[in-house]
Amino acid sequence: MDSIIVTGNGPLAGQIPIAGAKNSCLALMPATLLSDEPLTLTNAPRLSDIATMTTLLQSLGAEVSALQEGKVLAMSSHDLTSHTADYDIVRKMRASILVLGPLLARYGEAVVSLPGGCAIGARPVDLHLRALEAMGAELDLRDGYVHAKAPGGLKGGVVEFPFVSVGATENALMAATLAKGTTVLKRAAREPEIVDLAQCLRKMGAQIEGEGTDTITIQGVDRLHGATHPVVTDRIELGTYMLAPAICGGEVELLGGRRNLLAAFCDKLDEAGIEVTETEKGLLVKRRADHIKAVNVTTEPFPGFPTDLQAQMMALLTTAEGVSVLEEKIFENRFMHAPELMRMGAKIDVHGGTATVTGVKKLKGAPVMATDLRASVSLILAGLAAEGTTRVARVYHLDRGYEHVVRKLEGVGAKIERVHGS
Ligand code: UD1
Repeated sequence: MDSIIVTGNGPLAGQIPIAGAKNSCLALMPATLLSDEPLTLTNAPRLSDIATMTTLLQSLGAEVSALQEGKVLAMSSHDLTSHTADYDIVRKMRASILVLGPLLARYGEAVVSLPGGCAIGARPVDLHLRALEAMGAELDLRDGYVHAKAPGGLKGGVVEFPFVSVGATENALMAATLAKGTTVLKRAAREPEIVDLAQCLRKMGAQIEGEGTDTITIQGVDRLHGATHPVVTDRIELGTYMLAPAICGGEVELLGGRRNLLAAFCDKLDEAGIEVTETEKGLLVKRRADHIKAVNVTTEPFPGFPTDLQAQMMALLTTAEGVSVLEEKIFENRFMHAPELMRMGAKIDVHGGTATVTGVKKLKGAPVMATDLRASVSLILAGLAAEGTTRVARVYHLDRGYEHVVRKLEGVGAKIERVHGS
């Protein structure tokens, strides 16, 4: 297993290119299952989660070719050979459940293993299943698999989610494109990744209105056709790298970044004393003063502060002046980075879904362990600003969501390397 070694060495300067969004790409790829014509995605990120989705689609008989070093994914589901998503692949990645809606919509049946994924809470899939049931699917859960059938095809219906779920909205949205009649998704997720998916589906011939609001209306069509679609910018990678100059000082431009992808996050940075300016090419980030101020953060569905940036924000706040309170409202058990940051000298008290961070002058390098994707990158950010050397073990989590992390941070002057062995 590889580790990353980071040595704190002061201000950063330069540019970091931001990739296409992992979470968007993971929803766009299963959309290929909805059509027998090719779907091509450009601006795809090069990540192990994308490789896992590729393997899953290929196991169903889809053709997936990674072109231009993986930046372009050319897919075709002309000749599917299986409707079963096997446990061995699904357990590696929770987003695998996103093949369920499309398979069911196009073929009237699907068998999908219940997923695994990051260890950040229970993360059930009941909302996905209830949404498909509201469209007439018959579901049977046995042996760890969902056996789904819609013999006469899915039918439009009203799906009212009890709370916001990004994945369940995506599954229902895809399924509804081929259902008979009109489907209305209420309390739908509003994330930019949902908008991206709806825009791609529309290019494929779907009739969708209201994406980006909490009510999405889909008029089912008989078939979808091929399309080419660029994956939206990864707002979580963007926010993560915006925190690098915020933590270390200096001035970094994030290429491809847009403020509207992360308005609530930018507002919090502003409150903490970090300046974010829109440029022609992206976003420029620098500190306003030597010190950053404590801020309180509550994670919420979009357009609120994203849970996927909570760990990284905590890394910033460990050295802020004053006391910050971080409330995690989306996932239980998402503070596993806190004890690791404390090994580096951070002062953090965790009670249930609330973490209280009392700023210290400086963190100190230490051997730490990554426990999930966003936790692992928060430890790297902390290491960039710490005194001495930090060794982050189990970085395979990182490969799921950050392409070329060493190269990107080295490019702005960070002292960082990847070594073999834990
Ligand atoms: C997606 C993102 C993930 C992000 C999360 C919240 C992808 C591949 N992943 O995950 O990075 O952290 O949105 O922004 O896009 N829930 C249920 N039942 C369900 C579904 C969800 O109880 O059927 C709960 C979850 O446990 C969680 C909350 O709903 O507490 C929100 O989860 P959801 O929005 O569905 O997250 P994902 O789509 O899995």
